[in-house]
Amino acid sequence: MTRAYLDHAATTPVSPAALAAMTEELARVGNPSSLHTAGRGARRTVEESRERLGAALGARPSEVVLTGGGTEADNLAVKGMFWGRRTAHPERRRILVSAVEHHAVLDPAFWMAEHAGAEIVLLPVDAAGVLDLDALREELAAHADETALVSVMWTNNEVGTVEPVRDVVQLAHRHGVPVHADAVQAAGQLPVDFAASGLDAMTVTGHKLGGPVGTGALVARRDLDLTPVLHGGGQERGVRSGTLDVAGIRAFSVAVEDAVAARPERALRLAALRDRLVAGVLERVPDAVLRGPADLSLAADGTAARLPGNAHLTFPGCEGDSLLYLLDSAGVEVSTGSACQAGVPRPSHVLLAMGVPERDARGALRFSLGATSTDEEVDLVLDVLPGVVERARAAGLVSAGGL
Ligand SMILES: Cc1ncc(COP(=O)(O)O)c(C=O)c1O
Repeated sequence: MTRAYLDHAATTPVSPAALAAMTEELARVGNPSSLHTAGRGARRTVEESRERLGAALGARPSEVVLTGGGTEADNLAVKGMFWGRRTAHPERRRILVSAVEHHAVLDPAFWMAEHAGAEIVLLPVDAAGVLDLDALREELAAHADETALVSVMWTNNEVGTVEPVRDVVQLAHRHGVPVHADAVQAAGQLPVDFAASGLDAMTVTGHKLGGPVGTGALVARRDLDLTPVLHGGGQERGVRSGTLDVAGIRAFSVAVEDAVAARPERALRLAALRDRLVAGVLERVPDAVLRGPADLSLAADGTAARLPGNAHLTFPGCEGDSLLYLLDSAGVEVSTGSACQAGVPRPSHVLLAMGVPERDARGALRFSLGATSTDEEVDLVLDVLPGVVERARAAGLVSAGGL
């Protein structure tokens, strides 16, 4: 074992079945909007894929709006639902989002504040990253009539916290406010059933569960007012124009179907690996702190307080970037948090929202496991980590002038 890839939450390998579907489809021609035989064949592939996606995610096929990934689906949800709502109710200007959302939700929300008259309410979380439902309740009691939508992620991508999405839906629907959830990290790892959740819209993406990058969907109720963000040929109920990526869509649907089918067994296996990783790290580096929910249990029905494949720890006196590069040279690939923020030397907004002091938040590492993770990879981490932490600490002391 020379290398360990423990960054599956950033992106995970394309599954062999998805790769086979994709390459087979790429060899074919046909625009699903064309009326000839090749076009009708492509359309059939898209619609079969849509059915597969709906069945795996607890949605009707007609609720699946295919997009070019999670960021696009989140943008369509936040902007489309805001504009859709405001057309009928100009007084509804508030967008309620949790403080720990991914930037694919936070940034469109703040963009709408700058450019479209929205008002953003950041809902607080507790020390484990769990949404404060009382804060949501109070906010809705005071301002429901001015609220356009609520967006709360199903699970957090950095610390693995599972959010109380069903409670959010119940509270918001009592006031007639629609709810979107970013389920990018949840699908394939936890039981995700769109109909049972009561959500109005939900984001999923291909490359976190064995599908290709650039594929995804916004699952959206048919009666949800959604203003298009992309305009053009009127594909996808008119809310997402653009020629459909038949090969990507088929591969995405195969990946989702397989990930959902494999989930019960895989979640158990990943949780066991993750538990060994966490226990091993805490034994070797006793002052490391596990962030996110401390409850690592996995219920028989697959529900959990924390994503089974997630371990997130902070290492006092270390810079996350130093740890990351030292681990990388020792053959271990991890992340300091959200890969989308890599290169930006700011502590994670998620950890800060959880009340982690900035000094501690700087020494964060996320280990995320996936379909290809093995015991040998965990062994390698446990082997090299103590030395890496020692060196990162020494480097931290030097840069802080302590040596
Ligand atoms: C929670 C969450 N939402 C959205 C995204 C963005 O998805 P995509 O990379 O498909 O645009 C990510 C990817 O890191 C994510 O973790």
